[in-house]
Amino acid sequence: MFADEEADPSEVILGGGRLTPGVVKIGETVRRPKSVFTRTLLLHLAQAGFDGVPKYLGCDELDRDILAFLPGDVPAKWRALTDDQVAAAGALLRRFHEASRALADHLGDGPVICHNDAGPNNTVFRHGRPIAFIDFDFAAVGDPLEDVAYMAWSWCISSKPARGDAASQAHQVRVLADAYGLSTAQRTRLVDAVYERLIRNERFWTARAFTGPPVISGPSPAEVLAWTSTEKAFVARFQRVFTAALA
Ligand SMILES: Nc1ncnc2c1ncn2[C@@H]1O[C@H](COP(=O)(O)OP(=O)(O)O)[C@@H](O)[C@H]1O
Ligand SMILES: [Mg+2]
Repeated sequence: MFADEEADPSEVILGGGRLTPGVVKIGETVRRPKSVFTRTLLLHLAQAGFDGVPKYLGCDELDRDILAFLPGDVPAKWRALTDDQVAAAGALLRRFHEASRALADHLGDGPVICHNDAGPNNTVFRHGRPIAFIDFDFAAVGDPLEDVAYMAWSWCISSKPARGDAASQAHQVRVLADAYGLSTAQRTRLVDAVYERLIRNERFWTARAFTGPPVISGPSPAEVLAWTSTEKAFVARFQRVFTAALA
C-alpha cells in the first residue's frame, strides 16, 4: 500500500492464512486474489450439488474473487482432533472428490480434483464439526490418495509427544481411511503416499525458501523444513505400525 492510501474501513483482514496476502472480509463475503481455476472449481462443485465449499459470488471492482464467508472456526494451527472430527473430514473429502469427477474428466490427467492443501487450517469447523474446505490455490487434477495422504498427516499424525503415540495415531488414520472409503489397494499405498507427500512438502518449502515471497505469519521456510524432516523420520520409524492399522 502507498503511504497516501488508506485502508478501506469496511475490509477486515482475515488472519490465520500463511501464503496469500490480501485475503479480506467485507460483510458476509471474502475477497481473494483472482484465480480462474478456483472460480471454475467452485462453480462446478455448486452445480454438482456439493455444499462443502464457499459459494463463488463473482469478481469485484478490484478484480478479486468474491466468495461467501462461512461462519465457524478455521484453526490457524494443526492440533489433536477427535476420531469423530477426522471421520467427518474424511467423508467431506470423499464428497468433494466425487463432486469433482466430471470436471476432472473434462480436464484429463486424473480421476478427481485434489484440494492439495486440505489440512484443518483450510477447513471450516462449525460446532466442532468440519463442514467445508476453503483455500483452493493448490487444487489440481490428481489421484485422490494424494489428498487422503495429506489429510492423514495434517489431521492424524505428528511427531510431537503431546499428540500421542504412533499406535493411537495409526488408529486415527484407519478411522480416516474408513470414513473416506479407501479401497484395499489404496490402503496398501497410503503410508507410502504420506511419505511422498512429506517429500513434496520439502520440495515446496525449499523452493519457497530460495525464491518465494516471505510467509505472512508463522514459522519460516527453514523452520518448516526442519519440522518436516522430523515428521518424515517419525513416519519412517513407525511405518509398520501405520501399515498394520490399515490392514
Ligand atoms: N470462505 C471463507 N469463510 C470463512 N473464513 C475464510 C474463508 N476464506 C478464508 N477465510 C479465513 O481467512 C484465512 C486465510 O484464507 P486462506 O484462503 O486460507 O489463505 P492462505 O492461502 O493465506 O492460507 C483462513 O485461514 C480463514 O480463517
Ligand atoms: Mg489457507
